[in-house]
Amino acid sequence: MSVIISPSLLSADFLNLGQDIDMVNKSKADWFHLDVMDGVFVPNISYGLPVISQINKKATKPLDVHLMIVQPERYIEQFFKAGADILTVHLEACTHLHRTLQCIKSFGMKAGVALNPHTAIHNLDDIITDIDLVLIMSVNPGFGGQSFIETSLNKVKKLKKLIRESGSETLIEVDGGVNTETGQALVEAGADALVAGSFVFNSPDPQETIRALKELK
Ligand code: DX5
Ligand code: ZN
Repeated sequence: MSVIISPSLLSADFLNLGQDIDMVNKSKADWFHLDVMDGVFVPNISYGLPVISQINKKATKPLDVHLMIVQPERYIEQFFKAGADILTVHLEACTHLHRTLQCIKSFGMKAGVALNPHTAIHNLDDIITDIDLVLIMSVNPGFGGQSFIETSLNKVKKLKKLIRESGSETLIEVDGGVNTETGQALVEAGADALVAGSFVFNSPDPQETIRALKELK
């Protein structure tokens, strides 16, 4: 199976968001990665429910929503209604992660768990079979355009081993500092999906950049 590409709209042109959504629709990308930040869990504020509802009207591909917010369990139904297909919460933001994942799945969404760079894979030992997708943060969440943290490659390998041993079908997605070089190393380490923001939207030909990422093997 080819690698799943999820362009992050955080680096899109918000004055012309419709054009960037059309570009992703026409491209070889698989999902739209939407970053929600609350200014508490991360030191930045992005966009929220009304913007996602509008994106959902135009996007022809699944919405991969990454919640960088505290107490994400309070907003699961609202993100479902806004159009999320995959809803990812941070492990560090959930006291009752198991309950939160069950709630996400009860709406028919795929349930994702994101790990900050300092959070070890072994925290997932007892819950991996309940997770549809693990999002490994390869930068500290909050901003686009940061450099890839190299130790993330080892985390992908450890996670791949855990998934294999547990017999689960959890997907591994990686977010932060992804370009064709880091993307290549990530695919070799076992990543199933790559998020890319600045590398796609700051490139001269974003559709071509998406195609180049999609061809990584
Ligand atoms: C960072 C976000 C990312 C961000 C990635 O907190 O979760 O999705 O858009 O941006 P790049 O690809 O530029 O590192
Ligand atoms: Zn993200």
